[in-house]
Amino acid sequence: MIAAPRLSLSDGSTIPQLGIGTYKVPAESTAALVEGAIAAGYRHIDTAALYGNEAEVGEGLRASGVDRDELFVTTKVWNDDQGYDRTLRAFDASAEKLGLDRVDLYLIHWPIPSADRYVDTWKALLRLQQEGRATSIGVSNFSVPHLERLRDETGVLPAVNQVELHPRFPQDDLVAWHAAHGIVTEAWAPLARGGLLDDPVLARLAEKYGKTPAQVVVRWHLDRDLVVFPKSVSLERVRENGEVFDFTLDADDHAQIATLNTGERTGRNPDLD
Ligand SMILES: NC(=O)c1ccc[n+]([C@@H]2O[C@H](COP(=O)([O-])OP(=O)(O)OC[C@H]3O[C@@H](n4cnc5c(N)ncnc54)[C@H](OP(=O)(O)O)[C@@H]3O)[C@@H](O)[C@H]2O)c1
Repeated sequence: MIAAPRLSLSDGSTIPQLGIGTYKVPAESTAALVEGAIAAGYRHIDTAALYGNEAEVGEGLRASGVDRDELFVTTKVWNDDQGYDRTLRAFDASAEKLGLDRVDLYLIHWPIPSADRYVDTWKALLRLQQEGRATSIGVSNFSVPHLERLRDETGVLPAVNQVELHPRFPQDDLVAWHAAHGIVTEAWAPLARGGLLDDPVLARLAEKYGKTPAQVVVRWHLDRDLVVFPKSVSLERVRENGEVFDFTLDADDHAQIATLNTGERTGRNPDLD
């Protein structure tokens, strides 16, 4: 049974360090996947309005029979819905699809600096938190100047920033800035979308521990105190990605994985939007 530790958030809540991602999980297979992941011990599901599967995530949560308070559900406001009023409406739509009156974590999906609406959007998230509809609030794909602007204009930094992060793109400077400011870092594309799993360094470490390359990479994230939610459409691989609490990587393993850093993203650079 997968039992992930929880990390503390700046607002006093806690978050399970391991979850499942649902980007590109087809709506028709989402409910069974979520139910199966929860049966395997997962308690944290990452979705977004963009992913088109919030209703099916909600179906899977209900089918699991696990108490609402044991589950941790994140969703995100999409770019088109940024702005104070639109964000409040987008939240209502997401909550209704999920079948939840409260989400555990609500995120601004991308900053879109050219639209210049992320501060007003953040103010809407602050209201949702005050009303108890979002227990924790955060952002995604924000860089330091965006975070500083939220702090300067509202006095409140996000509890988390969800950013692309994997051994090829470890974001060491941003992670250190987050840690110095009480922000938990969540890693999206933690497996580089599958693209680094045939690397020989990971194959050697996988052999050393009797694990798979994916499990070595998930362990790398956990050892670095990141929150991680690999995505797989296969329940077997979802279970595999969670069997990571019976080993840890040593300093030499981490040094070897550090050689994979090429600075390559799988996604777009959010500063350029
Ligand atoms: N905030 C954002 O802007 C943002 C952007 C992207 C993603 N995300 C979130 O982060 C989550 C994870 O990122 P991601 O889905 O882009 O990429 P990822 O988790 O790095 O990689 C997913 C890919 O890895 C494969 N995979 C998973 N487990 C495997 C295993 N054990 N062995 C071999 N292959 C495996 C999957 O294939 P199969 O599915 O075929 O197993 C899929 O192709 C998303 O689902 C989403 O929740 C957020």
